[in-house]
Amino acid sequence: MLILGIESSCDETAAALLQDGKVVLSNVVASQIKTHRSFGGVVPELASREHLRNIGWVVRQSFLDAGKNQEEIDGIAVTQGPGLIGSLLVGVSYAKAMAFSLKKPLVPVNHIEGHIYSAFIENPVMEYPVLALVVSGGHTSLIFSEEPDQYRSIGRARDDAAGEALDKLAKFLGLGYPGGPVIDRLAGDGDPRRFQFSIPKISDGSLDFSFSGFKTAALRHIEQSGIKPRRPGGKISKPALDLITGYQQAIIDTLVRQTQKAASSLHPKSILLVGGVACNSLLRRTFKSVFEEEPQRQEREGARVYYPSPLLTTDNAVMIAAAGTPKFDRTGPLDLKLNASADLRLC
Ligand code: KG4
Ligand code: ZN
Repeated sequence: MLILGIESSCDETAAALLQDGKVVLSNVVASQIKTHRSFGGVVPELASREHLRNIGWVVRQSFLDAGKNQEEIDGIAVTQGPGLIGSLLVGVSYAKAMAFSLKKPLVPVNHIEGHIYSAFIENPVMEYPVLALVVSGGHTSLIFSEEPDQYRSIGRARDDAAGEALDKLAKFLGLGYPGGPVIDRLAGDGDPRRFQFSIPKISDGSLDFSFSGFKTAALRHIEQSGIKPRRPGGKISKPALDLITGYQQAIIDTLVRQTQKAASSLHPKSILLVGGVACNSLLRRTFKSVFEEEPQRQEREGARVYYPSPLLTTDNAVMIAAAGTPKFDRTGPLDLKLNASADLRLC
């Protein structure tokens, strides 16, 4: 089955052709980083306009790269939500028009389910139950799945998402946008113990996440220690380096701690680490060590940890095609009333 995936939920316009849910024939991503960089975050109106400019050539390029023509596809999978409404509408409208003119089926896909499927593309045989930590610029969620297509929400961000928290501190310190990859690259050289970040206790016993307290603590440290933003083209100061190292560590500790609590009661066989922040090298290493290697050393049964390769970790359309592929068996005639939904829930 050959599926065209289309993704436009935030600031990446993406199209991909995927064969049988696992063979990636093309993966085209037009990033808008340059457009939003000077604002230190995504500007929704600019994002919609960029999607409009890019969607046509991105889809055409996905067919050229794959060496396929439009008549050869079996269907189109498009991100319906959650995301920025003006951005989502571009992808959904384009997909509807294309499905109508080609007389092909169209399935809507939840972006979060797309991220979960990003781990299946390179690892099609994965044991259930599955516990997924979806961690990106817009989302931090723990989702449990006992069988395909069944999802239970175990915990979610109460305030900022983890990626958003990283991006905000980086912006404050003049480290550029998006901040996650910069902090990942620099943080290895800092001292994580110099600045204190206490991990908040969520009093109702839920496995939700809260990162806004770290931001407040970081701002206090910046003020008390007189840390200045990096000058354009300049070097990061030692206190700023120590601050981002401690901050990243606190975010990772929180992510690991909540996932550990969920894993100890739900006993998943597979743990997935997905979404843009799952590119983070320390987070990847820590998940492998905590959930796979340590249990093995203690001769306990651990879980297998899976994360996608970096190109499939940040927003892309391969994951949308992958999540859409099993849905084509159940899809009816083309629904031209299909609409984008900014706060679409997976479960
Ligand atoms: O999944 P994604 O591309 O878009 C959303 O759905 O939000 O994730 C983007 C987020 C940004 O916050 C970015 O800073 C973060 O992922 N990110 C990283 C790394 N690479 C991207 N965070 C930490 N370490 C990285 N290496
Ligand atoms: Zn995403």
